[in-house]
Amino acid sequence: MSESKIIVALDYPDKTSALNFVDQVEPSMCKLKVGKELFTRAGPDMVSVLVKRGYDVFLDLKFHDIPNTVKNACHAAADLGVWMLNVHASGGRAMLEASLEGRDKSQHKPFVIAVTVLTSMDNQSLAEVGVERDAQSQVQKLANLVQECQLDGVVCSAQEASSLRDQHAAPFLLVTPGIRPQNSQTGDQKRVMTPQQAMDAGSSYLVIGRPITQAQEPISVLNAINADIL
Ligand code: C5P
Repeated sequence: MSESKIIVALDYPDKTSALNFVDQVEPSMCKLKVGKELFTRAGPDMVSVLVKRGYDVFLDLKFHDIPNTVKNACHAAADLGVWMLNVHASGGRAMLEASLEGRDKSQHKPFVIAVTVLTSMDNQSLAEVGVERDAQSQVQKLANLVQECQLDGVVCSAQEASSLRDQHAAPFLLVTPGIRPQNSQTGDQKRVMTPQQAMDAGSSYLVIGRPITQAQEPISVLNAINADIL
């Protein structure tokens, strides 16, 4: 278990390279996120290994399906002993409620959070799928629905965090990717914030991938960020 607010995105193509990173850290230093690529290649066994080693694991599979399927998928994910899992808020009220029903069937009780609008979507791409309101107000609308359905929080960009925090007080969780420590490469992330800025904006946890995993010295970067946001 870890008190760290950092969730390291284990965006590796296979179990060996993921474990190569994990071998260098300790559960007290960070939580770990397993996403679609690693999960599809390495399977639930990868998740179980991390849980057995004592890590808080965020299983980032963004479930989006009919309520019954999402209920059963969330039950299965919770049974892996993960700390957090997620679904798409746009799946609607019945699906969001079903995600909690599935979670509650497990003896483990992970946080269930929801993605509002993917940060890769802009107003134009939303219009193309029939959403006429702008991205920001769509995020607000879906976050309200997520809270009404009593999920534990949302994934959001750090830019959205402060306005969401005004509407949704803690313990509602704001989990924010798109974090770049000062002087690090932005890569394909366009709107970035430093770890401290994101925490000041009301983030609960920071999802950080490449600035740590691709660093020459991942552990020093991780330690420095942990110290920065204490
Ligand atoms: O390497 P980087 O720090 O950009 O990794 C960010 C992680 O957060 C990746 O796993 C990415 O898939 C995820 N993510 C994101 N933006 C979102 C949602 C998730 O970057 N809106």
